[in-house]
Amino acid sequence: MSDNSNPKTFYIRTFGCQMNVHDSSRISQILTSLGWQASPNAKEADLIIVNSCSVRAKPEHKALSEAGRHQQARKSRGAKVILAGCVAQQGGQQLLQKASGLDAVIGPDAICRLPQILQQLQTNRTPLVDIDEHDLKNPCFVPLVSSKTDQISVPVTIMKGCNNFCSYCIVPYVRGRESSREVDDILDEVRQLAAAGCREVVLLGQNVNSYHDPSGHDFPELLDELNRQAAVERIRFTTSHPKDLSVALTKAVSRLDRVCEHIHLGLQSGSTRILKSMNRDYSQEDFTKKALELRKAIPGLSLTTDIIVGFPSETWADFQKTLDVVEEVAFDQAFSFMYSPRPKTLASKMVDDVVAEEKARRLLILQELLNKLESASLAKLCNRTLQILVEKTSRRDENAMSGRTRCNRVVNFETHRTVLPGETVDIIVDQVRGHTLWGRLGTNNMTELP
Ligand code: SAH
Ligand code: SF4
Ligand code: F3S
Repeated sequence: MSDNSNPKTFYIRTFGCQMNVHDSSRISQILTSLGWQASPNAKEADLIIVNSCSVRAKPEHKALSEAGRHQQARKSRGAKVILAGCVAQQGGQQLLQKASGLDAVIGPDAICRLPQILQQLQTNRTPLVDIDEHDLKNPCFVPLVSSKTDQISVPVTIMKGCNNFCSYCIVPYVRGRESSREVDDILDEVRQLAAAGCREVVLLGQNVNSYHDPSGHDFPELLDELNRQAAVERIRFTTSHPKDLSVALTKAVSRLDRVCEHIHLGLQSGSTRILKSMNRDYSQEDFTKKALELRKAIPGLSLTTDIIVGFPSETWADFQKTLDVVEEVAFDQAFSFMYSPRPKTLASKMVDDVVAEEKARRLLILQELLNKLESASLAKLCNRTLQILVEKTSRRDENAMSGRTRCNRVVNFETHRTVLPGETVDIIVDQVRGHTLWGRLGTNNMTELP
């Protein structure tokens, strides 16, 4: 690493979900507070951090090969390479043999100890491993707070870990048991974020519906408090587990004006037999009933989901049931994946008997249906006036601004007057281009959500 006369620089490459993206922001915050400077590329960086995801084999391999790419930087100029995140937590000490050229392997809970880890890296020559999990009674949530933020929408961790042990999923093994953060701590962080210029918070947890803080507050109560006290315009949350989705939550989303009309509810499979084997604890009928009730109770709701194809023993008839549920619920958007066996999980002991070509075929068929439904969902928003929270200049057109609807749809619009990020504007949607809506400033009488 460079000497004290030059500012030390760091580069972070992030894989995986919003939790990892958020963890990377916290790592940046800690490093910046210690005098480090962020660098947009790894070429000159003194410290290279690969924040990894192990939810499927593909992102795991990508992270390991990314870490391997920086060998030259280590050898030629003494850069340090840290493998962080879920692959690090999963592999621990063994990774030092498997992926040579790592200076440290640190799990998600080690972020709290980053200052000490950096000190050790400066003095120690031997690689360091820190995959200690947080104390459940005293979990460490590093809040993301600065006096000013240029981010309009900021994630806020409300809970960590997961107790569900879905049979395919590695997350409980790499993120530990579930623990919820105190309502008052969350309120404090959100207040500070609002004072720094943030306009929207996204509450993060693997299963926000089972949020239960140490003082006994549940998730709908947290939403109530935030809606009442927090000076942000919008409140979002992700993700919800169907088995824990309560009437109280449905009521909260429909009643609380700052809470946006978007729920991400993982279906995973439409076959009750497969759901059982996945340990999801709901049937096809339970899911469909809850989803349709949500649609009825919350006008304009965007319902999104995750689906896995090719889980062990999934037959064509099981897959057809998934297509049936997808069609009936008419998801607005979805992420879909081919099943990938993960170490330690229950499903990894089952025979992975749907061959890769068949998984790919099912994925293609599913994605065709999902695309059709997404287009229909977007078309319904055309010619309507939608409230957009402006986030930034559009990526596709530098004369256009970009923002999101309450139901989490990106809308671009050209404008002749200055519109600043953070403003809320009315937009008449004119057209759909790909997965993006385009519109213009103004209102018409079509303001009701479809
Ligand atoms: N806690 C979230 C999911 C987090 S993981 C929830 O329950 O909704 C994100 C998604 O990755 C899962 O919803 C699932 O669809 C997918 N996934 C997880 N493990 C997988 C595996 N082994 N193979 C394929 N997809 C997987
Ligand atoms: Fe994984 Fe299931 Fe937990 Fe989601 S709820 S993180 S899919 S174990
Ligand atoms: Fe997220 Fe991947 Fe870890 S999905 S919790 S970064 S395994």
